Amino acid sequence: MTSSAPQTFYLKDYTPFGFDVESVELTFKLAPTATRVLSRIRFIPQENAASSDFFLHGEELELISAAIDGTPVQVEEVDGGLNCAVPSTPFLWEAEVEINPKGNTALEGLYMSNGMYCTQCEAEGFRKITYYPDRPDVMSTFKVRIEGPEKVLLSNGNPTASGEGWAEWHDPWPKPAYLFALVAGDLINHPDHFTTKSGKDVDLNIWVRPGDEGKCAFGMEALKKSMTWDEEVYGREYDLDIFNIVAVDDFNMGAMENKGLNVFNSSCVLASPETSTDANFERIEAIIAHEYFHNWTGNRITCRDWFQLCLKEGLTVYRDAQFTADMRSEPVKRIEDVIALRARQFPEDQGPLSHPPRPEEFQEINNFYTATVYEKGAEVIGMLKRLVGDADYYKALDLYFDRHDGQACTIEDWLSVFEDATGRDMAQFKRWYSQAGTPKLKVSDNFDAGTYTLTFEQSTAPTPGQDIKDPRVIPIAVGLLNDKGDEIQPTRVLEMTQATQSFAFDGLAAKPVPSILREFSAPVILERDTTNTERTFLFAHDTDPFNRWEAGNALAKETRLAMITAGEAPDSAYLDALIKLVRDDTLDPAFRALVLQAPGQSDLAQTLHARGQVPDPQKIYDASETFTQTLAQALSDSLPRLYAATTVDGPYSPDAEGAGKRALNARILSLLTRLDAGEQAQRQFETADNMTLQYAALACLLKADKGADASASFFDQWQEDRLVMDKWFALQISCAEPEAAARIAKELTTHPLFTLKNPNRFRAVMGALSGHHAGFHQISGAGYTLLADNLIALDALNPQTTARMCAAFQSWPRYDTARQELIKGELQRIATTKGLSRDTNEMVTRILN
Ligand code: ARG
Ligand code: ZN
Repeated sequence: MTSSAPQTFYLKDYTPFGFDVESVELTFKLAPTATRVLSRIRFIPQENAASSDFFLHGEELELISAAIDGTPVQVEEVDGGLNCAVPSTPFLWEAEVEINPKGNTALEGLYMSNGMYCTQCEAEGFRKITYYPDRPDVMSTFKVRIEGPEKVLLSNGNPTASGEGWAEWHDPWPKPAYLFALVAGDLINHPDHFTTKSGKDVDLNIWVRPGDEGKCAFGMEALKKSMTWDEEVYGREYDLDIFNIVAVDDFNMGAMENKGLNVFNSSCVLASPETSTDANFERIEAIIAHEYFHNWTGNRITCRDWFQLCLKEGLTVYRDAQFTADMRSEPVKRIEDVIALRARQFPEDQGPLSHPPRPEEFQEINNFYTATVYEKGAEVIGMLKRLVGDADYYKALDLYFDRHDGQACTIEDWLSVFEDATGRDMAQFKRWYSQAGTPKLKVSDNFDAGTYTLTFEQSTAPTPGQDIKDPRVIPIAVGLLNDKGDEIQPTRVLEMTQATQSFAFDGLAAKPVPSILREFSAPVILERDTTNTERTFLFAHDTDPFNRWEAGNALAKETRLAMITAGEAPDSAYLDALIKLVRDDTLDPAFRALVLQAPGQSDLAQTLHARGQVPDPQKIYDASETFTQTLAQALSDSLPRLYAATTVDGPYSPDAEGAGKRALNARILSLLTRLDAGEQAQRQFETADNMTLQYAALACLLKADKGADASASFFDQWQEDRLVMDKWFALQISCAEPEAAARIAKELTTHPLFTLKNPNRFRAVMGALSGHHAGFHQISGAGYTLLADNLIALDALNPQTTARMCAAFQSWPRYDTARQELIKGELQRIATTKGLSRDTNEMVTRILN
């Protein structure tokens, strides 16, 4: 059963399964290398269903027995599953299989992590547990019995009975198999309660390994806040008696929304002030919310097929971003999200892996859990909301929940809800789901007789498999300022539908200064012939916080680009404006920290490439260093005062206000370190009582090449803490000089605490390497080779994480021929590895073509 040519699946080929599943009963007899799974599944053939349509998925299963209505049956085991002759009337399928959780290093299906059993079934992992129609449009209730010596035995739904060595669970809500979960281990819980708005009491638990019980309180608070928020904002209540969260050390992704039993990468739930940074806290709060929100957007309403993945992911990311904005700061969250979108989604959209938020074909669906599906998927929801307005958005959402509860849906269903709730035609808007690529939006303006006219021209470059792009609907939020910086036109959303389109503003006394694409109202690349003078004006005056930051960001980029391409000195007007803003204590420290954050070096490379130049990673690095050094000197008089002002009184709390001050602390300290040989950083390192301050100080010291002692003492202090050790591994590389990054990374792969078996540790090292732009792209090719060596080694164990990390190579077309050849050589070396997984094969093939 070897298939050499990989199979491709197409959206256009969708056909429903010919059988309904009325109920599923599973019994697990747990044993590390020989777990038995007994299934009793009631199938109801639909009208016209042929016996030959009966196909059950199954992979890496040893079939012990199979019976229909109590009579043993012969099955035909084929690649990826089995066929069997079945009756045309309802029947009971019973099977027993044996699986090996301990040998499962792919971390998909049922596997073991540090002695505990856990599952990951999305997208197609359930087929590694038993034979089943493993597709999201087949929904059923589940009863699960678990037998094993472990103290804690968990599955989906409500607990129904338990005794010594066994437990039973019943999930009354029909669900697809990808939401199935089982956990067993000697775990400890952090319990709490929640009363829903209709008065229903829900038990809440966070389950962890002994030793981690002190790191659950924050996650629990985040969960309760999420539950309240979803009731208040979307009217969504929780629907079971219990909600369990489990922390797992070995996990391919962030977390998983299994019904009533969310499984989390421990890095995305465990938190304490001593071991977690503010950024960790914010991310944990967001991911807890994300998985909880899936209970409605994902579980109660799921996807018809995996092409519709953004139906649940885009919407749920959008919802968790709304939540974070409400819990913290709306502009800060928006700026952070746009930075992340440009860093992760734009390169994907503008490179060989470009695909629409709703892809139309795949070989391995796990390769499509991408920034495009998730983050661009969320941007699309944001545009929809901007176009129809808040009231109609929530009206449409109410209709969505009302109409589709209990169903497996499509993007068409989603857009119909908006059409029916608002009376709008969504046909053109739908192109955001079907077209890949980031649109470019060129702007020109004209002022004549009191009328100011903005003319926009949209275009999208061809992407793999998609040469022709049609104009999209683009919401462009615009405000106008006069020359004193007063807002003379409050934000207005222009609705662009044509390839080229003009919008006029009348009755103006003089030519205004436009603030365009406020709040980043659409995921596009704005191109405008403008001057640094105008950018500096907006940087000082824009009333839209996002665009104020954006003006500073554009200046930060332009000054570096001019340094790189024309050998210019750092732009003094920008430096003056930046210093003025940073010294302005009336401004939010978090905002000032964001303004001080240097533009990503990969982003600068992408911009140079887009302007027809070949980026030199070392020159980009040098320009960034020079700029920061110049800034440190120019700001030197103020640095001690600014540093002192970032002190937060009282015990550590991960709230937005304290976090903002500490974010500014990290920026100011890194400037100070350039002038005081690391004295202040050393003091901060020694006195810090929380990880945020300790980590920032260690980063500064390592960057200044003064971190050897601090790094050793950090290691001693934290070597027993897996999550802190991930930070330690990553920092050694990300703070290194470009020439040293690959060498240090290579040394770290021989460290006793490095392992291919833990995705967090692998990502800590290889992610830090590929994220060090100038280090990864050293012309020696050492970074490329090291990554490829490790991807080849990991692929034999864990295809999913390997395939994702191949994306580090996606930007090869930007660089010079020497680097291109080096990267392509490594990709070819991966591609020709014997026994390469389907996951990784698909990724390298797409990147090379
Ligand atoms: N649905 C999960 C989430 O977004 C992610 C699961 C991804 N799993 C995978 N095998 N790709 O919360
Ligand atoms: Zn999700």
